[in-house]
This record gives sequence, structure tokens and C-alpha cells, in this order.
Amino acid sequence: MAIEYREWRDGDDLALLEIWGGPETAQARQFRGALAPSSNGTGGMPWRRCIVAEDVIDGVGIPVAAGVVYEAALHPERLWSYIEVARDHRRAGIGATLLAMLRREAANAPSGVAKLRAKVEPGTPGAAFASAAGLAPIQRSRLVVVQPGALKLPVFPDTDHGGRPVSGENAGSDVVMDLATGSVELTDVVGRYYTAIHSWDSPGVLSVGQVQKLFLDELTGAHGAIVLRAQPESAFGQGVAPSKKGRIRAFAVSYAAPATPEAPDAGEGPGGQDAAAPGAPTDVFVGHDPALAADDAAEAVRDMLSLIAYQHPVMLELDDSMSALRAAVEPLLENGKARLAAAETLVVSE
Ligand SMILES: CC(C)(COP(=O)(O)OP(=O)(O)OC[C@H]1O[C@@H](n2cnc3c(N)ncnc32)[C@H](O)[C@@H]1OP(=O)(O)O)[C@@H](O)C(=O)NCCC(=O)NCCS
Repeated sequence: MAIEYREWRDGDDLALLEIWGGPETAQARQFRGALAPSSNGTGGMPWRRCIVAEDVIDGVGIPVAAGVVYEAALHPERLWSYIEVARDHRRAGIGATLLAMLRREAANAPSGVAKLRAKVEPGTPGAAFASAAGLAPIQRSRLVVVQPGALKLPVFPDTDHGGRPVSGENAGSDVVMDLATGSVELTDVVGRYYTAIHSWDSPGVLSVGQVQKLFLDELTGAHGAIVLRAQPESAFGQGVAPSKKGRIRAFAVSYAAPATPEAPDAGEGPGGQDAAAPGAPTDVFVGHDPALAADDAAEAVRDMLSLIAYQHPVMLELDDSMSALRAAVEPLLENGKARLAAAETLVVSE
């Protein structure tokens, strides 16, 4: 084998796809898209270095492997990296050589950030390679489906805060509310929650616009949101109707299923749940006000989850850093009322 290394060129993606075949993990599917021409970080393109390894046979180089490292505006404290080597060329040191070259490039990244980070699936060659290269897990992420009715619905008081009786169907109406995905109040709590659960890899300072773009605007597929509020309090004490709503304790944003051949109408219906194929779980993002005490946050998230997964299954991403959500979901994984929808993902870093 005579391996030569050069910069990525247009057309390499097609040549490599032919040699590699389909992606072997979800991470490979996600990161193959990052293999692209190098960029110096000008003109709105993130800084990127992408290298191809060619096997030279009779003077003709055939791309067999590639590696990329690039800056990210979100989570700017590390650089993303990805390496893939054709199966019949593995365990020959090509991956390690690409990594060494990428590390050299990273040392000259304009931001001064040189620490690498990657995503791998436990038990795969990628995970073994990362571990051999000194990249250790900094987060574990699981995609979980919660079955309908897995959690008991919360019991809401049958009087409102002014002490007036409310009929059964209106109980809780002053604490559970729909909220427009464009709401400033929702955007604020979503942004603070996302930042709080990423203390292990800071997203940097998130503007209102960025939070909208990442989680709430139409392009994200965000369909609707509900919030669980604290009981509103009247400035004049019991018996006087409060004029303000209670602050948000927990939120859930639902997303339309991506259009697939099995669900051609996905994305059309309101409310999210009827947008997916019948019986398919609705994608949701559930969180809480990070200022809540741990017990309060756990209760708020559990109540929220019981409401949204009352009749329909929901699918959510559960990171180990999401303590309140773990407290609600892990018992369900143990008793079979929730299941993993995919293999775990580890974010590894040096
Ligand atoms: C991960 C990958 C790039 C490794 O490429 P490679 O060229 O085979 O790696 P190397 O030969 O340089 O291996 C370097 C070291 O990593 C470890 N390693 C690599 N593959 C391994 C495996 N399948 N099992 C156990 N250890 C492994 C070994 O310690 C190896 O050293 P050794 O061969 O002297 O024992 C390749 O398996 C691949 O393309 N996987 C799919 C894509 C992926 O998951 N990429 C990782 C994300 S960064």
C-alpha cells in the first residue's frame, strides 16, 4: 500500500462514497456531510481543514480515507473532527496519520482553539480509535421513546388561586398553557436551559435570535409549545384574582416529523402529534427553568412529560447532563415504559 495525503477536492465525496458504501453509524451519516473543501473562515464559512488519503496503485491515486476538523459557532470551545477509513484499509495507521495531521492543522486554527471533539457510538471501531487516541467521553446522549401513559398525570387543585372552584376540565388551566414558539418568554427559558445543560461544552453566549433559529423557528420543524407555570400569585393575597401568570417551570416544544415516504403528509397537521405517521412518536424538547431547585425541576419535568406523553408516544434526547429529565425517564427505561430508539452517542474529547 502506498498512501498519499492531500487536500480535499470537489468530487472526493462521490469517489469515497463508492469505496465506503453506506454509513455504518448515525455519527458517520451526520459527519460525512462535514467533509468539504478547506476554508480559512472568511466569507461566513467556518474555518475547516479537510484531508484525503489516496491509495496509489500504478500511479493512480484512489481516495480511501478522509478526515476533517472545523470550527463551530455553537459550542466554540472545541473543534469538531471526523475521520473515516475504507474498511479494507483499516488498522494500518491511516486513521492515526490523518488525526496527527488534523491536530497539526488545529494547532493553527485562527480562533486559537485546538481541542478536538468527536461523536462516536460505544462498541464501534470509532469508539476504540478515539479511546486509543486519548479522546475520552465528556457526554453520553440517548434517544428515548416514552410510551403513552407511562407517567401518572399530575393532580391540579380544583380551586383557582383566588379560591374559586374550577370545574374538572379547567383544573390546571392557569398552570398548563400553550405558548407560541415565537414567544420571548419561551425563547428565554429554552436558551437558559440549553446553556445550563451544556456546562461541559459551553455553547457560548446565545442571542435570542440564535435560540429561535436553533430550536423554535419554522425551519427547525417546531410545531407548538406548552409550558407548565408556577401557580400565579396575587399581589393582594388570597381571594383576589392574580393579574400576572406564574413563571414558567417547565416547557415542551414539539417538532414535526421529517417528511418520509411512509409519512408523506408529515408537517401538515397542527399540534405535532398528528403530523407524524400514525403511532409514530412525536419529537419533543423538554426542559425546565434552570433556576429551579433540583427537586422542583424534577417534579416539573415529570409532570410535563406525563402531560405530553399521556396519549401519544414522544421521543426525546436524554443527555447525562439533564438531571431532572433523567430522574423522570430512567425509571421508565428500567420498567420498560420507555425504550432507546437508537444506539447511544458519546461525545469524546481530549
Ligand atoms: C475509526 C477509524 C477511522 C479508524 O481508522 P484506522 O485507519 O483503522 O485506525 P488506525 O489503524 O490508525 O488505528 C489506530 C489505533 O486505534 C485503535 N483502533 C482502531 N480501530 C480499532 C478497532 N476496530 N478495534 C480496536 N481498536 C481499534 C487501535 O489502538 C489502533 O492501533 P493498532 O492498530 O496499532 O492497535 C475507522 O475504523 C473508521 O473509519 N470507522 C468508521 C468511522 C468512525 O467511526 N470514525 C470515528 C469518528 S472520529
